Amino acid sequence: MAIPTSRTHEAATVSIESALCTGCGQCVNVCKDFTLRLCEGKASLAPQSILGCVGCGHCMAICPAGAISVRGRNLGPEDLFPLPPRDRAADFASLQALLQRRRSVREFLPDPVPPEQIQAILDAARTAPTGVPPSDVNVLVLDSLEKSRAFTRDFCEHLKTLRWLTAPWFLTLMRPFWGRANHELFSNFVRPALAAFTGSMDAGENVVTYDAPLLMYFYASPWADPADPVVAATLAMLAGEALGLGTCMIGSIHPLVQWGGSAARFRQRHGIAHKSREGLVVLFGHSLVHYERGIERSFASITRP
Ligand SMILES: Cc1cc2nc3c(=O)[nH]c(=O)nc-3n(C[C@H](O)[C@H](O)[C@H](O)COP(=O)(O)O)c2cc1C
Ligand code: SF4
Ligand code: SF4
Repeated sequence: MAIPTSRTHEAATVSIESALCTGCGQCVNVCKDFTLRLCEGKASLAPQSILGCVGCGHCMAICPAGAISVRGRNLGPEDLFPLPPRDRAADFASLQALLQRRRSVREFLPDPVPPEQIQAILDAARTAPTGVPPSDVNVLVLDSLEKSRAFTRDFCEHLKTLRWLTAPWFLTLMRPFWGRANHELFSNFVRPALAAFTGSMDAGENVVTYDAPLLMYFYASPWADPADPVVAATLAMLAGEALGLGTCMIGSIHPLVQWGGSAARFRQRHGIAHKSREGLVVLFGHSLVHYERGIERSFASITRP
């Protein structure tokens, strides 16, 4: 048995070099698939696991003796690397300062983001946890103002085919199925937003992706945990901040390119490989604005029973 993804349908295979194993049991402890057990003071494969080795690699990463190799599910021993020293990792104060200084930026210089910074953002984002490894997140990178503009212009043309989505007759029809929150969102947010997107684009102003010179669209495959692209996009955004770039998440594109023939053609034209439940665009660029103060934010609720 193995958990299917778009990249593999196989379980990973684990090999243990018994001669190296000291029987410390750490690999058994971190394997939540119960693929491993201790038998006569040595790690060995359990007769049954829950899902088949998912290839998380935790056993290889923790083994002090280097006795375990996992191969498969896009993982191998060559993927292990030495941990950066603890004192090079951000402490809470510097992480919090980065988080507090962040603002959604929608005013960008047209200058391109250098390729090494784009690579650094992708390198940071691919460390993201995923529902099940290997990551089933896909990233569309549009690395110039021309590309991001062309994508957004085409998106706005596609939106013109979706006018029925916010037509009063459609919203009335859907009201009993969608419930109140969706009805209010579609009437008071989606409808005016779509009109503003298309109207502004026709007038030469981009209020969808704000002419950012770098756009990354994170989306999943149908096999993935729907939250995976959102987690990766969040890390990408923070990486952009750490590089001194302005960033902004754009949630309005993904849901509008999922359903119908026009959306399928849009995805095909832009090399978007899958429909998926969740996805997120992140904008990056050198900011034209600099904020003087932070803004306190709060959650809708924090419950501690
Ligand atoms: C999931 C998500 C989707 C968002 N979608 C958009 C969007 O489509 N357009 C936009 O201008 N801003 C978008 N934003 C940015 C929010 O509007 C912004 O985070 C919010 O106004 C708070 O401002 P701050 O990020 O500066 O704290 C999005 C943010 C998130 C987290
Ligand atoms: S972590 Fe390594 S040394 Fe320890 S039991 Fe597992 S294989 Fe053996
Ligand atoms: S890779 Fe993960 S699931 Fe597979 S044996 Fe190691 S710890 Fe268990």
